[in-house]
Amino acid sequence: MIVERNLPLQPLNSFGIAARAGELVRVRGEADLRAVLADPELAAQPKFVLGGGSNIVLTGDVRALVLKVEVAGRRVLEQTDRHTLVEAGAGENWHDVVTWTLDQDLPGLENLALIPGTVGASPVQNIGAYGVELQDRFHELDAIDLQTGEVFTLDAAQCGFGYRDSVFKHTAATPGDFGLAGRALILRVRLALPRAWQPELSYLDLARKAQEAGTAQPSARQIGDWVVEIRRAKLPDPAVIGNAGSFFKNPTVTPEQCADIIGRDPKLVHYPMPDGSVKLAAGWLIDACGWRGKRVGNAGVYDKQALVLVNRGGPEQPATGGEVMTLAKAIQTSVYERFGIRLEPEPVVV
Ligand code: EPU
Repeated sequence: MIVERNLPLQPLNSFGIAARAGELVRVRGEADLRAVLADPELAAQPKFVLGGGSNIVLTGDVRALVLKVEVAGRRVLEQTDRHTLVEAGAGENWHDVVTWTLDQDLPGLENLALIPGTVGASPVQNIGAYGVELQDRFHELDAIDLQTGEVFTLDAAQCGFGYRDSVFKHTAATPGDFGLAGRALILRVRLALPRAWQPELSYLDLARKAQEAGTAQPSARQIGDWVVEIRRAKLPDPAVIGNAGSFFKNPTVTPEQCADIIGRDPKLVHYPMPDGSVKLAAGWLIDACGWRGKRVGNAGVYDKQALVLVNRGGPEQPATGGEVMTLAKAIQTSVYERFGIRLEPEPVVV
């Protein structure tokens, strides 16, 4: 185990915010974490688990011991009646794993192509795109307790998946609550890919691609290629313009609230949900408030997708976490004042 000190985190977060880690340890497997716990000084420190850094906003130097997850490995485990089970180390790049499954004719992850970040981060926020969420393909995961070094396995129910949410985003604030934020590090994720695969084309952008191609039964690879095209057209590439994907969750409202807003703003983008609630496009709400292309210092609102905040300063003069959060708060205030809706940030603010 090597402890790296005063390490720049700018290359390790997709926003490209400049901050430092006082101490950082790379975790390639259980043994590395156990070595940390065997060191009385390191064991006593609060810990921060860092995956691909694509869903965080750093508002200053990180004082907690940073555990950079680098657990590698991918393998096909077994076939059950309905699924092929595959496993990937938490440090693997998510999109590489999607490509690896498609290369082996294992469909199921194509709608989730090109999502930045690592496999280990995928259950934390239950990544989702174009009609599929991680929970639809999730089997189980192995994690390690950051206090005891004990390895445990969680199934989907135990992960408490919700929209961009899981048990890993919550702390056990009240007795009886089960939250694992800051308490566990995900080591490996096992996915269940359906053997009776059907294309998922319900999302408008994908339905349009299928129509253009003149097919209702595209291959998984074809869908993966379309998803890559759609994402490239709409979302900034973090390697070029720093960002953390969607900055806010899409809010849900009651049908009455929705009807009330439509009364004033007939163009409101909304989607009725199976549970009777209505999901609104946060990007549309922000856009309607005139935020597209606006800036606070070097933090900006992406001009092609108002839901994405970007680093306009590049690597030389990067936006600070403070600028990003000032911009985010100003957006929240204006959306609340106009629509009465409180937008909830999606990335983890550190
Ligand atoms: N819209 C605008 N103006 C904007 C942005 C969006 O009017 O500036 C409208 C669009 O025209 C569209 C609607 O809002 O009708 C929805 O936009 P989009 O299709 O781009 O999807 P989204 O709801 O903004 C969500 C996820 C994305 C995911 C896509 C595709 C969240 C918070 N975001 O975005 O996930 O890729 O759907 O499934 O749920 C992420 O979580 O980081 C992420 C990128």
